[in-house]
Amino acid sequence: MNAKEKWTVPRVRDMKGRQRIACLTAYDYPTARLLDEAGIPLILVGDSLGMTQLGYETTLPVTMDDMLRHAGAVVRGARRALVVADMPFLSYQTSVEQAIRNAGRLLQEAGVDAVKLEGGVICAATVRALVECGIPVMGHVGLLPQRVRATGGYRLQGRTEEAAAQIEQDARALDEAGCFAIVLECVPSSLAARITRAVSAPTIGIGAGPHCDGQVLVVHDLLGLSERIPSFACTYANLRDVMYDAFSKYRRDVEDGNFPTFLPEP
Ligand code: KIV
Repeated sequence: MNAKEKWTVPRVRDMKGRQRIACLTAYDYPTARLLDEAGIPLILVGDSLGMTQLGYETTLPVTMDDMLRHAGAVVRGARRALVVADMPFLSYQTSVEQAIRNAGRLLQEAGVDAVKLEGGVICAATVRALVECGIPVMGHVGLLPQRVRATGGYRLQGRTEEAAAQIEQDARALDEAGCFAIVLECVPSSLAARITRAVSAPTIGIGAGPHCDGQVLVVHDLLGLSERIPSFACTYANLRDVMYDAFSKYRRDVEDGNFPTFLPEP
């Protein structure tokens, strides 16, 4: 397989058991371009953009219009990566028809390759209907941020055997419904390993330990730009300090008359 070829859904699926999959979120054109150049095969336009881009407390206020705008920018920046967009809260829960229309908009208007939605057994019929329409779906089980009001917070899921069994059942239902990949968020590493063995789709972990087929991080956590960085994330660069220093230096230079030094002449 030529490394410069576009990452497709079958190609990502085939990575299970061969090569671990590196996935990062992106919400804008320049970040998508850089991820693509760095060879990241899978880019997620997460509804985490509610927090990282729009300053909301949760993902709940994110709309289809928000997703379409940001997903379109990411698609324009990603030449080879497979781009997946989150379906925002209430864009797929009220009916299968509504889910198909909204997922279709993300493919038609933003140009993404696939959509992601949250939930297991409860949305397996919706996943099946989308897949039958030719819309590739990434599943998401474990911690479901769109249900934070019902679950009461962002914490490790599947801590009892009963809760773990439910999450495994959710993942199996999504696998059978045709998901090409499944995100496991904030579940014990032993459960992630069990699910990874049980399903045919690659599992993509976040706060789920090392035994998944791939990993995803919120790009702002990786770059040290998030206000609160989860304990499972790894900060690969501290862009907050780099940006803060640049902004402060610029302000001082303007105030002291040291910028600009370039003298425009006719
Ligand atoms: O919205 C998002 O960024 C996500 C990832 C955390 C998996 O769903």
